[in-house]
Amino acid sequence: MASDIKHIGILTSGGDAPGMNAAVFAVAKTANNHGIKLSGIRKGFEGLIDNDLLPLDPNEMQRLMHQGGTILKTARSERFMSVQGQNKALRTIEQNKLDAIIAIGGDGTFRGMLALSKISNIPFIGIPGTIDNDIAGTDYTLGFDSAVNTAVKCIDNIRDTAESHNRVFLVEVMGRDSGYIGIHSGLSCGADAILVPESNEDINYLLHKIKHYNSEDAFIVVMCEGDELNVEQVSSKIRKVNAHIDLRIAKLGHIQRGGKPSAQDRMLGIRLGVLATKAIINGESGKMAGVCNNKPTLRPIKSVMKKQSVDAETQDLLTLFCG
Ligand code: F6P
Repeated sequence: MASDIKHIGILTSGGDAPGMNAAVFAVAKTANNHGIKLSGIRKGFEGLIDNDLLPLDPNEMQRLMHQGGTILKTARSERFMSVQGQNKALRTIEQNKLDAIIAIGGDGTFRGMLALSKISNIPFIGIPGTIDNDIAGTDYTLGFDSAVNTAVKCIDNIRDTAESHNRVFLVEVMGRDSGYIGIHSGLSCGADAILVPESNEDINYLLHKIKHYNSEDAFIVVMCEGDELNVEQVSSKIRKVNAHIDLRIAKLGHIQRGGKPSAQDRMLGIRLGVLATKAIINGESGKMAGVCNNKPTLRPIKSVMKKQSVDAETQDLLTLFCG
C-alpha cells in the first residue's frame, strides 16, 4: 500500500545535542529514497509558529552530520505554550501541507508535540535528543555519549594539574536532575567520589573519605548539577571536615553540550532517523523511536514521559566504587 505521506517537517527543540544532525541527515536520506519532501523547521516550535521552514537536501546534510549542535537551530519556546502560539503552528502546518512531523528533543519537546496533537491530527514521531539521558524507553539518548566523552576529557585534564599540586577538585557536570553524566564520567575517570541527585548518602561517603585525605595526591569529586547541594555548599562542608586541603572548583557547563558527536551518537542518530521516518511512512504516530537492548524500538510517547531512573547495574557500580 502506497503511503499518503508526501511532505514531512522536522524540528529540533530544547537543548541541542551532538548527533542531532546525523538524525536529520538519516531522515532526509530515507524520505528522499521514498520520494517524500522534507522541510526543516527552524528553531523548534518557534519556527512552526513563525512559518520558518527550509527545504533539506540529503546530499547537503551528509556533509554536515559530523557537526555538533543542530543545523536546524533550536529554542525553548515560551510562545508555543499558549493556545495562540499553537494555533499559529497549526496554520503553518496547513499552509505548507505538512503530512507529518518528526521532533527531536527531550521531554519538553515531546510535551509540545502532545499539545499539538490535541488540536491537530498530524502524525508525529519523536526522537530522544538530550545529553542528559533522562528519557525512558531508550537505552541512550542522542548526545549523551558525546557529552560523557567531553566530560571525561576535561576531567582527565583536571587530574593532571590536580596531581601536580596535590589538590582536591570539585568538578560539576551537567545532566539537569539526572545522574547519568556524572556517574559515567566519574567512574570512567576514577573519581574519588561522585555526588548524584539520586542519592542522599553519597555526601556522607565523600566527607568520611576526605576527612582522612592527607594531601599527598589528587582527590577528584565529580558532582551533578542537579544534586541537592551545590558545589559551594559541598566545598564548605569539605573544608569543615578537613581544613588543610587545597581545593578548586571547576564547572564544565556548556562545553559538554558542544563539540563533534562521537561515532556512537552519529550511528544512533542514523538508526533513529531511519526508524522514525519508516514509522511515519508505515502510518505510526504518537511514538518515540529509541533503542532498547540495542534493538530499534517504538514506544508510545506517553509511556516515555517519565524520568529514566539510573538503572540497577549503574547504581551497583556506583556503590562498588564510590560508597
Ligand atoms: O537538558 C540539557 C541541558 O544541557 C542540561 O544538562 C542543563 O541543565 C540545561 O540543558 C541547560 O540549559 P540552558 O542551555 O538553557 O542553560
